[in-house]
Amino acid sequence: MGKMSNETITAKNLKSKPQSKPIAGPKQHINVNPIRRDLEFPFDFNRLSDWHGDGRIASHFLNTLSLFFPDGEQFFIDSVRHYRTNGTITDKALLEEVRNFIGQEAMHRREHIGLNRAMDKAGLNAKGKEKQILAILKFGRKAFSPAYQLAVTCALEHLTATLADGLLRWEELIPESSEPAFRDGWRWHALEETEHKGVAYDVFREAVGTDANPKVYAMRVSAHVLANAIFWPLVVAYMADIARRSGDLTDIKGWAKAASILFGRKPGLLRKKVPEWFHYFKPGFHPWQLDNREYLSRADKLVESYAKTA
Ligand SMILES: [Fe+2]
Ligand SMILES: [Fe+2]
Repeated sequence: MGKMSNETITAKNLKSKPQSKPIAGPKQHINVNPIRRDLEFPFDFNRLSDWHGDGRIASHFLNTLSLFFPDGEQFFIDSVRHYRTNGTITDKALLEEVRNFIGQEAMHRREHIGLNRAMDKAGLNAKGKEKQILAILKFGRKAFSPAYQLAVTCALEHLTATLADGLLRWEELIPESSEPAFRDGWRWHALEETEHKGVAYDVFREAVGTDANPKVYAMRVSAHVLANAIFWPLVVAYMADIARRSGDLTDIKGWAKAASILFGRKPGLLRKKVPEWFHYFKPGFHPWQLDNREYLSRADKLVESYAKTA
């Protein structure tokens, strides 16, 4: 398991080496202990709708994803924390990873809340969309057992880790010409989603069970299907609404460019990530079967530029 760490990385405390080692024994996968980094991004909100180097529609796509994070990440935190609070998790290293997972997600929430409020000021009605997302999550909290809520978290963590890997693998997805704080904010989020991608999953295995139990397997894959079936139609609807409110619904060139980035050859983020999305159905799946730790060293540069000073 990862090395114990109680530190949050701030401007006064600059160091950022991910601690990881391969696990011996039945798990046979890598564990990475997330590091809490207190970073703040001075987004230039004058560029809110055209911050992305590939234009307004590409900006709207990532702004749309931002809508889901404040309440979604709170749901992730609560579903994992449940098993710490009730004493199910006793492994000290895993408890430490959970603590750092919660710390990372809390800081992501803070930055996305700032971004979403700027969307409100720009007349994009982020609040109204967040209300709908919150209502869905509230329903989930009432209707589903803690185990199923954690299964939903694991599924959405796989989705975020899959998209994050794409953002880190193909840096041209957020070109250098983009507004720097937006570009780096998304890269930071992608790095930390990568760093903590195994934590909720390990809690699930510890608290609920493994794929050796067919009921547990059915739970996690059905949660994967359900979560994605709800998430993607909302992304499409919200992105269309944001584009409409921004006067960009008929920007055919912009849509074509965005479609090419997501589905085409350059680089085709969503198209290329389909196999990895399906990997979740494989019995015995673990997020660290895709070993992409090499990207984590990029965090140092972000820490140097954006660590909170106060
Ligand atoms: Fe996050
Ligand atoms: Fe996450």
